Amino acid sequence: MSTLTTPAPGTTAAAPLQIGPHTVAPPVVLAPMAGITNAPFRTLCREFSGGKGLFVSEMITTRALVERNEKTMQLIHFDATETPRSIQLYGVDPVTVGKAVRMIAEEGLADHIDLNFGCPVPKVTRKGGGSAIPYKRNLLRAIVREAVTGAGDLPVTMKMRKGIDDDHLTHLDAGRIAVEEGVTAIALHGRTTAQHYGGTADWDAIARLKEHVPEIPVLGNGDIWSAEDALRMVRETGCDGVVVGRGCLGRPWLFADLVAAFEGRGDYVRPTLREVADVMVRHATLLGEWIGDEARGVIDFRKHVAWYLKGFAVGSEMRKRLAITSSLEALRTGLDELDLDQPWPTGADGPRGRTSGNNRVVLPDGWLKDPYDCAGVGADAELDTSGG
Ligand SMILES: Cc1cc2nc3c(=O)[nH]c(=O)nc-3n(C[C@H](O)[C@H](O)[C@H](O)COP(=O)(O)O)c2cc1C
Repeated sequence: MSTLTTPAPGTTAAAPLQIGPHTVAPPVVLAPMAGITNAPFRTLCREFSGGKGLFVSEMITTRALVERNEKTMQLIHFDATETPRSIQLYGVDPVTVGKAVRMIAEEGLADHIDLNFGCPVPKVTRKGGGSAIPYKRNLLRAIVREAVTGAGDLPVTMKMRKGIDDDHLTHLDAGRIAVEEGVTAIALHGRTTAQHYGGTADWDAIARLKEHVPEIPVLGNGDIWSAEDALRMVRETGCDGVVVGRGCLGRPWLFADLVAAFEGRGDYVRPTLREVADVMVRHATLLGEWIGDEARGVIDFRKHVAWYLKGFAVGSEMRKRLAITSSLEALRTGLDELDLDQPWPTGADGPRGRTSGNNRVVLPDGWLKDPYDCAGVGADAELDTSGG
């Protein structure tokens, strides 16, 4: 891969991150992303990082897991070389979450469990699920308690947003609950539910959480688009590690940059289009092998095409053509027609993926009246949906 050597970014104070028995050094984590961070994508990121870091699965709904839904059982597949195996769970019912966690622990299905309390999708929050849960402190506590108890020796972490909106912030209370219930580490996406993916992530909130719960590692999440951003987040917030999501969409080599930066090196990957094309074909190939069907793998890969090609001179017709391919040969042939000698475009380093926000948060009637009542959440808030 082509690299660009910049002045060494200097050393950082970032110590290795300890997630139960697992040492994560440098402290970089691939954010769980539904429909994205499956085994093939994690493999690519891990290859670029040289096996360093932690790579979390896409979100798995606890009900589907307990029912051994066929698709869900495929989603929890790990590459044989993947260690530690990290599963993110999403559940709304303490009993079901407890069953799912016990199943993982007893059957040895993973080495680490992350709980998702950040999903902003209206069809989930409308029922009181996802990022609506932390507002109900007792419900949050009950879910976390069942998970930690059921997990036995497996470390349990949790990931959340700042709160529902600026008038209903919950991250500090949720952090305290996490500590009291034995959570190993906590990740904060510095946005409210109302923000979805819009505006900028509030890194100050990450710093405040770190001060509030010095007992456990706090991981910062939101708007890390480059290795320098990651170092800056650690410097400015004092967080113990970073969780990187959209920045690596169509750019799994960002993990090489992250490792380099945390290790004090300035050799960053800046691939030519030819090198990007090779990664694209490999990504599509891995998806096909994982699904067990080449065409379905290439079709699943379509959502990644625009991210990989961001900033390169490709032309809208070719972009469209590449986004509707259904065979590896068609993908390769299309890519070969491009000017593959193009260097990495400077414009490709910024934000990518979803950036919209400021939606009205839809909640069950009266949800905000009492943060401590014992409202339960309907099982239909646990949809087979995506998001965090
Ligand atoms: C396509 C997509 C899917 C996501 N799915 C999940 C998920 O399954 N679980 C979760 O906790 N967060 C999910 N998220 C949120 C990310 O993990 C992360 O918190 C968010 O994107 C902010 O980090 P970033 O600025 O680095 O992207 C998702 C985000 C995106 C863009």
